[in-house]
Amino acid sequence: MANEHTPGSGEAPKIRHVRASDLDAVLEILNAHHVNLGTQRLPFHADTQVAARIADDPHKVKLVAEIDGAVAGYGELETWPDRPRQRHGAEIDMIATHPKFRGRGVGPALLEAMVDLSDRWLQLTRLQLYVWDGNDAAIRLYERFGFEVEGRLRRFVVVDGAYRDALIMARLSDPIQPAPSA
Ligand SMILES: CC(C)(COP(=O)(O)OP(=O)(O)OC[C@H]1O[C@@H](n2cnc3c(N)ncnc32)[C@H](O)[C@@H]1OP(=O)(O)O)[C@@H](O)C(=O)NCCC(=O)NCCS
Repeated sequence: MANEHTPGSGEAPKIRHVRASDLDAVLEILNAHHVNLGTQRLPFHADTQVAARIADDPHKVKLVAEIDGAVAGYGELETWPDRPRQRHGAEIDMIATHPKFRGRGVGPALLEAMVDLSDRWLQLTRLQLYVWDGNDAAIRLYERFGFEVEGRLRRFVVVDGAYRDALIMARLSDPIQPAPSA
């Protein structure tokens, strides 16, 4: 598969929170054609919209993956502290890899970080996401992390001139237990 980087070679992705100075790289990611196809993004967006997207939001965790100092991927986890009956849930709102870094484990590294946050820090027991039917790389990735398809939303979205179904996928985990007393 044409890729500037050989899968499996080079540095493993490192995860950190996004910074305002990442704007140009996140723009390259969110404006990439494969991201346009896999998400709700249009082919054209104002740069200011992405600047607003990566700004601080106490309800969202916004992560980047770095490889060799370059921003290689972007992910968002949306939490719902203001929904008293759904505080135990959250949604993977975005996971996207820079076109130069596909196949380098960036998507898995971002997802692993979000699952770890969800399970071991934020006390969440339900993580959900929407994925377009036919986005097989994304569906395989989610299944590897224990997400299961819960339902199909028919004709949910238009992708490049055709209606596509969405799949809702979720991953349930057990509540955190008290540590055994010493
Ligand atoms: C889904 C996505 C995040 C996966 O990220 P990634 O960092 O490439 O993940 P991986 O390194 O695990 O590689 C995923 C697969 O792509 C393959 N791949 C490698 N290079 C590739 C390339 N240049 N183009 C397309 N796929 C490639 C890998 O071999 C791997 O195959 P596998 O699923 O059989 O293991 C990424 O494809 C992406 O940004 N998609 C667009 C946004 C999107 O659809 N997000 C999900 C919304 S629900």
